[in-house]
Amino acid sequence: MFIKDYNIDNSISLEECVKNIRENVDPEDFGSICDASIYLRMLANNRTFLYEKLSAELFLLSKGESVDLRTPQSIQVYDEDTFYIRANIWPKINRGQTVSGHEKNLFSYEMAHDHNFHFMTVGYFGPGYETDIYNYDYNKCLGFHGESIDLTYIGREKLVPGRVFVYEGSKDVHIQREPSSLSISLNILFNPKEGKQKQQYRFDVKNKIISGSLNDEISCRLFIMDVLKEIGNEKTCELLLDVARNTNCGRTHVYALRAASTFMLNENTNKHFRKEFSRFFEDRDPVHAGRGSLDESGRLY
Ligand SMILES: [Fe+2]
Repeated sequence: MFIKDYNIDNSISLEECVKNIRENVDPEDFGSICDASIYLRMLANNRTFLYEKLSAELFLLSKGESVDLRTPQSIQVYDEDTFYIRANIWPKINRGQTVSGHEKNLFSYEMAHDHNFHFMTVGYFGPGYETDIYNYDYNKCLGFHGESIDLTYIGREKLVPGRVFVYEGSKDVHIQREPSSLSISLNILFNPKEGKQKQQYRFDVKNKIISGSLNDEISCRLFIMDVLKEIGNEKTCELLLDVARNTNCGRTHVYALRAASTFMLNENTNKHFRKEFSRFFEDRDPVHAGRGSLDESGRLY
């Protein structure tokens, strides 16, 4: 986590910010992102670009056309292969309303979570949210729900206007607190070169465990396997074994094997697949070494 209060009055346009980020940031290099956060800070000094962007979308609405918002909380400002820029809205929750629980989830308030990418953010409008920050070692986790995690509490910080936070992907964990009134942050989010190959987790910080996953690519992939495990057939089993064989992702490998193992419990399962499955337990291929595997009872080890 990098936090900086830049004392700077210079303002730049969205186009200048994009150019500087493109030329100065390696999305894999957290240090280069921290160094370039001054450009986001200068964009935050530009008090017209967001107003103009939203006014243009309101104009489309006034003509009966649709606008493309990612979520009600997030306004897409700019997008290219390696990074994208968003304005995030942090409203105050309506107390006593039946929707308040849903709103809390929608705006990720009070939910400890990490991100599987680096991103920088700056306070743009309003008092800003407070956030409790922890960190952990992604590579020491297997990723199952209920797994004990060595979470370290770093402290509570507030994203006041002009302050910059840079969150380190798959390391920093944070809990957003509802601001005292509507606040807006500007974010630049970086896509890892090989795609988002890590899971994003929710955490129970009191008990220091993983309490769930978020809508990352791996979690969605594992969810497909969960469903097919219930409604699939031998063809599914064959596909799961191919997934386990070909994936570069350790979690996907283990999960596919675990899902395939459920078909092996069926007496009617074709002997060919039983044989295919058993080959994994004999597998000494170094590519699969260190990924974790299954014991005879299907448990992850
Ligand atoms: Fe977050």
